Amino acid sequence: MARGIGKRALAGGHDVTVVGKNSEHADGAVAALREGNGNGSVDGAVAGDSLAGDLVVLAVYYDDARAAVEALRDDLAGKTVVDVTNPVDESFDGLVVPPDSSATQELAKAAPDARFVKAFNTTFASTLQAGEAGGQPLDVLIAGDDEEAKAAVATLVRDGGLNPVDVGSQRRARELEALGLLHMTIQDELGTGYGSAVKFVG
Ligand SMILES: NC(=O)c1ccc[n+]([C@@H]2O[C@H](COP(=O)([O-])OP(=O)(O)OC[C@H]3O[C@@H](n4cnc5c(N)ncnc54)[C@H](OP(=O)(O)O)[C@@H]3O)[C@@H](O)[C@H]2O)c1
Repeated sequence: MARGIGKRALAGGHDVTVVGKNSEHADGAVAALREGNGNGSVDGAVAGDSLAGDLVVLAVYYDDARAAVEALRDDLAGKTVVDVTNPVDESFDGLVVPPDSSATQELAKAAPDARFVKAFNTTFASTLQAGEAGGQPLDVLIAGDDEEAKAAVATLVRDGGLNPVDVGSQRRARELEALGLLHMTIQDELGTGYGSAVKFVG
């Protein structure tokens, strides 16, 4: 997901810093993104470095996102923080967050001064790399309570050639995570090998 979202951000002329657990991991993603010939610059950093940029994408699994948000609580204050996680259980049969909540809402509790936005959890990584599915631009569904933060994510999405759809407040993150889970569970049925996309037409 870091490579997919990073590729779209670079295509849109945004500068990207890839934060890895260690420099080797960051370097691999940086090299891959540089090969993509984007319009922005790309650099690597290591977890623990101070965070560059106004917008932080948590392109990690939910448990890792929780740990990162707890560790980075002060650094994230005032920043737009994009939660892409699908907090699925081990059997991919449900969500691990409380039934009246979502990963985004749980993460936001750990860093209340950050501006959390749910986005990209319904777009598979390979489709972000391609920038499309079935010959159509991807819909990127966006939920959050901070209008400026949602607008910043929508700009990133649009600049990268995708179609932002504001689906409402942070409470809608729950439905987006349920949709993300459903999209995963129907991959065998669709036979698209995680190459399908959720798209609204009309
Ligand atoms: N793949 C998809 O199509 C897709 C679609 C929608 C949503 N998502 C969501 O996107 C998230 C990432 O999925 P993914 O498929 O991209 O997983 P992935 O390929 O396994 O990448 C996750 C990366 O996070 C790194 N990481 C973990 N903790 C970190 C930290 N504290 N600092 C820096 N890096 C850290 C891991 O590094 P190490 O390798 O060193 O462990 C790993 O490289 C998940 O929450 C998933 O639910 C995925």
